[in-house]
Amino acid sequence: MHRVFKPSISLRPALLLLTPIAIALLAACTPDNAQSTFGTAGPIAEDQANLFIFIFWIAAVVFVLVEGAVIYVSIRYRRRSDSDKLPHQTHGNTKLEITWTIIPAIILIAVAIPTLSQIWGQQSGVPTDQGEVLNVEAIGHQWWFEFRYPDHEIITANELHIPVDRPVAFKLTSQDVVHIFRVPKIDGKVAMVPLNDNFIWMIGTEPGVFYGQCAEFCGVAHALMRFRVIAEPREDFDAWLLEQAAPAAESTDPLILAGKKVFQQSGCTGCHATDPSSKGRIGPNLTHVASRSTLAGGVFENRDEFDRVNPSILQANLREWLEDPLKAKPANIMGMQAAVYTDSNKKLSEPDISALVAYLSSLK
Ligand code: CUA
Repeated sequence: MHRVFKPSISLRPALLLLTPIAIALLAACTPDNAQSTFGTAGPIAEDQANLFIFIFWIAAVVFVLVEGAVIYVSIRYRRRSDSDKLPHQTHGNTKLEITWTIIPAIILIAVAIPTLSQIWGQQSGVPTDQGEVLNVEAIGHQWWFEFRYPDHEIITANELHIPVDRPVAFKLTSQDVVHIFRVPKIDGKVAMVPLNDNFIWMIGTEPGVFYGQCAEFCGVAHALMRFRVIAEPREDFDAWLLEQAAPAAESTDPLILAGKKVFQQSGCTGCHATDPSSKGRIGPNLTHVASRSTLAGGVFENRDEFDRVNPSILQANLREWLEDPLKAKPANIMGMQAAVYTDSNKKLSEPDISALVAYLSSLK
């Protein structure tokens, strides 16, 4: 005897719980969300968003047809009473089997052709008809991004400036573990692998500030490994290049000079360069750290409501970061290894931190 099916758990609490979760997840897809792949600002991201929508609708039609058939069959042929006989059983139907093999094969081919051509297109270099190329080397570190502009002898961190409407070719690599380079509004995502360079390119068509985020789990502070892409008109980009190529600012202000001395004597120079073309040894190049819109790999926002780097916000952020780097970014190398944080005899004093904040915020 078959028992009549009775749900053993009430569906209502589950639905009540799932609805807000689903709404929260879907809200992240709204085009103006900084990390949403909708609302694109470049042709590559736009092609990818269109491809997603194309695949989504194919999947939606398949889902509705298959689930509709399951529901229809379950209701139409359900056992109505215990005296119902077993219906006629069919084993093997060549025509049906060929049909349901060929239809999915056609669907998969239709999905694969645009997908593969986009993947190859983005990794095989900038097409020659796209104009003058800007070369950038992007290097992933736990947990920040280094950007080198080899044609301009500039090295910076966590802030990628690009001119609008000009192709940018990236060589991607990593200093330690696998990271993923990802700018949702402008580009796809490609892995940054140690000792194995990858290549992608992008074009930003709208001026603005866009989010970049590491998209591969790379350790405890993975979620705090971010950067900003600043897409700007050609004149602004050229001006930025000139500013970044200039040597670090010098000052005669006593507090700034005291900060520079702390910087040199407390071991900071062992990891941080302060000339425009020195590679990040262990930590970011700080030559123009005070010009950047964020601090500590995108963790602190230095801009005010007018979108400009605000000196008092920057100084407050620098202080918070220097006082306790592990609080802002767990397990980061500076907090874990720098003598000023590991050796209580070398701990930065309050005046040391004030002087360092003054010095670093003078590096515009
Ligand atoms: Cu780097 Cu996640």
